[in-house]
Amino acid sequence: MAAGDPLLVLDKVNKRFGGLRVIVDLDFQVNEEEIVGMIGPNGAGKTTVFNLITSIYKLDSGSIKFRGREIAGLPPHKICHLGIARTYQLVRAFLKMSVHDNVMTAAVYGGAHELSSKERTLSALELVQLESKRDVIAAHLTLSDRRLLEIAMGLASMPSLILLDEPMAGLTATEIDNLFTVIRATKEERKFSILWIEHKVDAVLDFCDRVGVLDYGAKIADACPDEVACDPKVIEAYLGEPPT
Ligand SMILES: Nc1ncnc2c1ncn2[C@@H]1O[C@H](COP(=O)(O)OP(=O)(O)OP(=O)(O)O)[C@@H](O)[C@H]1O
Ligand SMILES: [Mg+2]
Repeated sequence: MAAGDPLLVLDKVNKRFGGLRVIVDLDFQVNEEEIVGMIGPNGAGKTTVFNLITSIYKLDSGSIKFRGREIAGLPPHKICHLGIARTYQLVRAFLKMSVHDNVMTAAVYGGAHELSSKERTLSALELVQLESKRDVIAAHLTLSDRRLLEIAMGLASMPSLILLDEPMAGLTATEIDNLFTVIRATKEERKFSILWIEHKVDAVLDFCDRVGVLDYGAKIADACPDEVACDPKVIEAYLGEPPT
């Protein structure tokens, strides 16, 4: 597979909860080595898209293909083994376990690879710069370090696509800068693709190759950041007019 080839392809995906249509005929694509942002108002369906991709929720209709293979309906661990990792809007580490043991657990869950679980754990800890905190219990980490830990847990399964759900929420400007540095360096080293949900729009527009915008579960824009930033539909639904 070469950079730019289709990696993840959602085709006419629909999901309802009771009478509420949460995802509506969604077509969406992430290519190899691409960084794609997903933005939209609260409740637009962004996290639900991640839950559908990772099989936490079952879609009602449509298709989700990863490297050309249908993955809708596969169990979550199979999807992880195929190469999709994610982080959660509310961090989900094993709070009573050490940083090292959290990442090791994720490495083992990630299935068999050329590198052993131990090697993958050490590499992930190094990439997010948490080696010096490897013995710290997760509950004692700052929010910023917990987010790095979650990313390390994702990296431990050697993904070709990582789904980040608001990794910057609640962080200070300095912590955000650090997270950016870590993600950039890691992406440089590992060459994966990123699908990134974020409300910090400036960061998304700055960092992503392409940005999709959801509103009431439907895609209202999907283009390069400059185009999305001045799209009247996106301004009306989400961004608002820039100050004059
Ligand atoms: N398990 C569920 N059962 C019922 N409704 C749900 C469920 N999960 C999500 N929803 C609803 O689906 C809609 C989309 O929610 P989702 O969490 O995907 O939004 P979001 O775009 O991630 O929002 P935010 O930016 O606030 O995180 C909301 O109306 C939400 O209440
Ligand atoms: Mg969400």
